[in-house]
Amino acid sequence: MKKWFAVIGNPISHSLSPFMHEKWLRELEIDASYIPIHVEENNLEEAIRGLKILGCSGWNVTVPYKEAIIPFLDDIDESAKGIGAVNTVVKTKDNRFIGYNTDGLGFIKSLGSINLEDNILMIGAGGAARGIVSAFKQAGFTNITIANRTAENAEKMINDLNIGLFIPLKEAESQLNMFDVVVQTTPQGMKNQVNTLPIQLNKIKEHAIVADIVYNPLVTPFLEEATKYNVQTINGLGMLVHQGAIAFSYWNGIYPNSDDMIVRLTEHLG
Ligand code: ATR
Repeated sequence: MKKWFAVIGNPISHSLSPFMHEKWLRELEIDASYIPIHVEENNLEEAIRGLKILGCSGWNVTVPYKEAIIPFLDDIDESAKGIGAVNTVVKTKDNRFIGYNTDGLGFIKSLGSINLEDNILMIGAGGAARGIVSAFKQAGFTNITIANRTAENAEKMINDLNIGLFIPLKEAESQLNMFDVVVQTTPQGMKNQVNTLPIQLNKIKEHAIVADIVYNPLVTPFLEEATKYNVQTINGLGMLVHQGAIAFSYWNGIYPNSDDMIVRLTEHLG
């Protein structure tokens, strides 16, 4: 039977995953398809049963089902355990369905070359920050500082993941020259959101990496501010592409060309 993959979510029509995966499948001459599936809230369990019965070889999971899918899987990998959220389901040879989370590792890959000793500043302590901090920990990074508006949200994340130190946003701003990598994970700067900066960047270290997980717009106000300094800026597109590429490699055993895809999507969204 021909292999097929899917992404489930609600809404799903805006998802860029079908475009990416179809391109990679064609490029690598893999005879398979990848389709978006809109799943209504009450139908999640039946939809998953359907995917299994219809021979889906693996699927991505997006909002709002990343947590809700877990009870319907046979097991979840370490990457999903710490954060309780799955974005990729892999079917094993003996027909078991295992949940992974490739978002955090995808983000780390998007940073390019960084060192385990680098001092990392995370801004924000929501679900996305959790995934990234958990992946940093798994990859062996230890110097992680979390700056957040609400101290107790950051403290909860630090306790749950057992890594990181909290500092208030104002302190992050005044001590910014300590950090080699600064990661903006709040929704500030997203289209239709407030456009103030979570912190000012005038104390940023020379040659630091400044990343924003948002890719719509491609250049957020935070990244635009960062370009005034001598730093490397990275938008959220790399994370999107690499989380997909890691999932693709779990399903097909080969890592697809991500740099080309980032260029293509930049043109598509730009
Ligand atoms: P996700 O789960 O997708 O990462 P989220 O849960 O909406 O998104 O992320 C919220 C994060 O952005 C939190 O860290 C939040 O700070 P609080 O813990 O103080 O709520 C932060 N955030 C959202 N809006 C913000 C704003 N206007 N200023 C500063 N931080 C903001």
